[in-house]
Amino acid sequence: MTDLSQLQEQADAELAAVADEAGLEAWRIKYLSRKGLLPQAVDRLGALPREERAAYGKAVNVLKQSVQSAYEARVAALHEASLAAELTAEGLDVTLPGRRPQVGRLHPTSRILRDVYSIFAHMGFQIYTGVDVESDLNNFQLLNMPEGHPARDMWDTFYTLTPGVLLRTHTSPGQIRVMHGHAPEPIRVILPGKCYRYEQVTARSEMMFYQVEGLAVGENITFGDLKGTLVAFADQLFGEGRRLRFRCSHFPFTEPSAEVDVDCIICGGKGCRVCKYTGWLEILGCGMVHPVVLRNGGYDPERFSGYAFGMGPERIAMLRHGIDDIRYFYNNDVRFLEQFA
Ligand code: DAH
Repeated sequence: MTDLSQLQEQADAELAAVADEAGLEAWRIKYLSRKGLLPQAVDRLGALPREERAAYGKAVNVLKQSVQSAYEARVAALHEASLAAELTAEGLDVTLPGRRPQVGRLHPTSRILRDVYSIFAHMGFQIYTGVDVESDLNNFQLLNMPEGHPARDMWDTFYTLTPGVLLRTHTSPGQIRVMHGHAPEPIRVILPGKCYRYEQVTARSEMMFYQVEGLAVGENITFGDLKGTLVAFADQLFGEGRRLRFRCSHFPFTEPSAEVDVDCIICGGKGCRVCKYTGWLEILGCGMVHPVVLRNGGYDPERFSGYAFGMGPERIAMLRHGIDDIRYFYNNDVRFLEQFA
């Protein structure tokens, strides 16, 4: 019996000294495994004289249970301790302020485009899109610029390896697409989209930019309608009372043609760096659709007339926000983009 109480003491002391999982496993093998000290103590029962067996059996059972439950308690305690150690080591401080997720916002071009859409939609224009990869036919020929026409030099062009296929240099080829789809119905549409030019990239010109084309075709459409529409547009986009100036110009697909300036938003027309001291900022090109273009689109120019215009939304955004370099738009620098909430 003293053997048993010694064994108990020894097992308890060693168990209390165990510091980690490895030590605990060694302890378990020493005492509880099949050939361990406890099973050995149980086995000794068979070698005892009969009269001692009952008492020994009882005592060894009590010992076994006590050692087993001490072991289980130690397992749980060690597990808890290692969990607590892990938690302090990883140092999760739940009182720190959270990291605010970045919220996206609309690109300045998209914002202008949406304003433009809404203004023209209220005037009864539908929104169409053309295609970025266009035919030479739509981009030039049907717009009254046959092959070799010197006016083509106004648009430095990205050609593809497929003859007759190019990246559109303006949204005007969309005019042909819409006319082909609608002739001889009247048309009132705007056509937003990207354009591409094989140009040196500078503060004033990008290789890729947006345009919004406008086209109205019907009977009795006059230059007065064009003016009225553009004045109403500018009033809404820039605020009531802006002065517009229609300057004579030339485009092969309109006759007559004009360029439209708005009085400089920055200096109010007095003259500054942004307007190059002229007091005016150019915002679009326009004119009455050339009879050849009407015919190419499937409309009889004897009966139908129309006006068209093309504007650059980045230029408008630059005027509105006083941005002095168009390259900011597509550099994807969040420091720039974040300013337009
Ligand atoms: N397509 C011209 C350009 O890219 C702009 C333009 C001028 C469009 C006159 C028109 C227009 O529809 O009538 O420079």
